[in-house]
Amino acid sequence: MTKYKPIGIFDSGYGGLTILKEIRKQLPAFDYVYLGDNARTPYGTRSFDVVYQYTLEAVTKLFSMGCELVVLACNTASAKALRTIQQNDLPHLSPNKRVLGVIRPSVEEVVSITRNGHVGVLGTNGTISSLSYVLELNKISGNKLEISQEACPMWVPIVENNEIGTPGADFFVQKNIRNLFSADELIDTVVLGCTHYPLLSETIKKYLPANVFLVEQGSIVARKLADYLNRHPEMELRCSKQGKMHYYTTEQPETFDERASLFIDEVVQSQKIHI
Ligand code: DGL
Repeated sequence: MTKYKPIGIFDSGYGGLTILKEIRKQLPAFDYVYLGDNARTPYGTRSFDVVYQYTLEAVTKLFSMGCELVVLACNTASAKALRTIQQNDLPHLSPNKRVLGVIRPSVEEVVSITRNGHVGVLGTNGTISSLSYVLELNKISGNKLEISQEACPMWVPIVENNEIGTPGADFFVQKNIRNLFSADELIDTVVLGCTHYPLLSETIKKYLPANVFLVEQGSIVARKLADYLNRHPEMELRCSKQGKMHYYTTEQPETFDERASLFIDEVVQSQKIHI
């Protein structure tokens, strides 16, 4: 019998569902486990040490559930924890397992899209203050881009509290987009550097100037994951393929199921987990 070795998808809450949805579309044969740390969300306002600790706990949990490969479907965790986990923890925790993030794939895409080199990054406080996007964009473009950033601390609570489409959501989205473009009105490409933000994309598009390209991470991360599995057949073979999907949350499963179903177009039945 084939061993159950799902691909782990981790986020602080619901945001990673935007990534999971696209990954399953592009790679439907694999088994997946989604873990939302809803009890401790948001991560975006927390310190480096706390985000690192929470993320390491989640990754360790997913490894113990059979995952050989974990995707941090969270920019804040990718910005603050990924490198340390890859370099310091994996070698003694599970040297053959892998943890991937969402920032590098997004940055590669942004560089190929912008025409005038003026780029805007929207993210949580944590992601923006880590400068991860700025550093990666500079590295990959050879310092050729004009990069402006805007932290949007209210957007994740809006999504987590199901306030999408309300006047309050409009107010904060408009305010942050206005701030970004007053820093640089020439921006032609904006990256949603938080996996929660695509859930607000209707509202975001309302306030974005015409002809600005909006980069959403889901399909990009999915394509890069497919690419990764092609280039690493040893990992591809180790991940089981029965098309199964399991959801776990650190908060109330009933609440998770109700909200998650709105974002992922299917009936979700999650289980509570302690990490
Ligand atoms: N979805 C997460 C991200 O991509 C973070 C949300 C949060 O917990 O603040 O950054």
